[in-house]
Amino acid sequence: MEKDIYILGIESSCDETSVSVVKNGREVLSNIINSQINIHKKFGGVVPEIASRNHIEAISEVTKQALLEAKLTFNDIDAIACTYGPGLVGALLVGVSYAKALSYALNKPLIAVNHIQGHIAGNYITHKELKPQFLCVIISGGHTHLVNVKDYLEFEILGKTRDDAIGEAFDKVARVIGLEYPGGPKIDKLAYEGEPNIELPHTYFDNLDFSFSGIKTKILNLYHKNPNINKADLCASFEKTATDMLINNTLKAIKQINIKKIALAGGVSANSYIRNSYKELEKQGIEVYFPDISLCTDNAAMIASAGYYNYINEKIADLKLNAIPNLKI
Ligand code: KG4
Ligand code: ZN
Repeated sequence: MEKDIYILGIESSCDETSVSVVKNGREVLSNIINSQINIHKKFGGVVPEIASRNHIEAISEVTKQALLEAKLTFNDIDAIACTYGPGLVGALLVGVSYAKALSYALNKPLIAVNHIQGHIAGNYITHKELKPQFLCVIISGGHTHLVNVKDYLEFEILGKTRDDAIGEAFDKVARVIGLEYPGGPKIDKLAYEGEPNIELPHTYFDNLDFSFSGIKTKILNLYHKNPNINKADLCASFEKTATDMLINNTLKAIKQINIKKIALAGGVSANSYIRNSYKELEKQGIEVYFPDISLCTDNAAMIASAGYYNYINEKIADLKLNAIPNLKI
């Protein structure tokens, strides 16, 4: 029997300090998430400097808890994986520096994980049978990507946003209509009380790119012209228009790569309207996978899982590793 591999994952790219232990890439032994949402809420969004400081304060304790919950010690860990980009540079540096220090002190391999690849791996934890190839629809606060996942470490970007990420659009629309940061979950809830009866612009290109700034601006204008507009209808219409755009390009993408297998990933994949709409595609014979809700937004289990595939493919980083805020997939 092969030896079990335990990866300690560290995530600090935005406003969640998270540390996790994952066994063999798929089994979560612990996934501690210290969210700073309540701190950033009063500013209406993440304040980078405050995020970095809070990561520093939290990271040791979160790591201790992750090991405690996994009932393991540092000795049992095979490698240390950390997010090194994309994200906020100061926030990333906390996780990267901590991971480098652990790797050096414990003499264990260091693994550099791309945060976007981490989001994809959230699906491997939820669906033990899922293997590449599939189309991944990555929808988060920072990204909107259609990615052809050819293999665990082989990716091809088929389309991406030309302006706002979809989660950014959710958060900006929410802020304008007076909903608290992060606005995505609040829009999700309020939309149930409304109807998608407000006409909003759909943007399509002749390739698979997206644009969400048009609907966002339209909503801002509508709201400023008429602050009494029905907010629930606005939320429902926004969700429907954004989802139509996502699904339109998703269907084109699966045709292009000739694969009827889709996985969603990223914070916005927690959205219930989007999940229900994608679920409908199963009627067309398409396999559709979603990460467990707890693995949609930022967490270290997905980083440890992605780290595992790097580790078994001998993609090991060295102590010169630096944070790369605009890292591409
Ligand atoms: O993946 P994530 O935690 O961070 C990035 O890597 O960017 O995603 C955070 C984003 C935020 O924009 C948040 O509003 C959105 O995910 N989000 C949602 C929902 N839950 C989180 N958006 C729509 N509906 C939700 N239920
Ligand atoms: Zn993320």
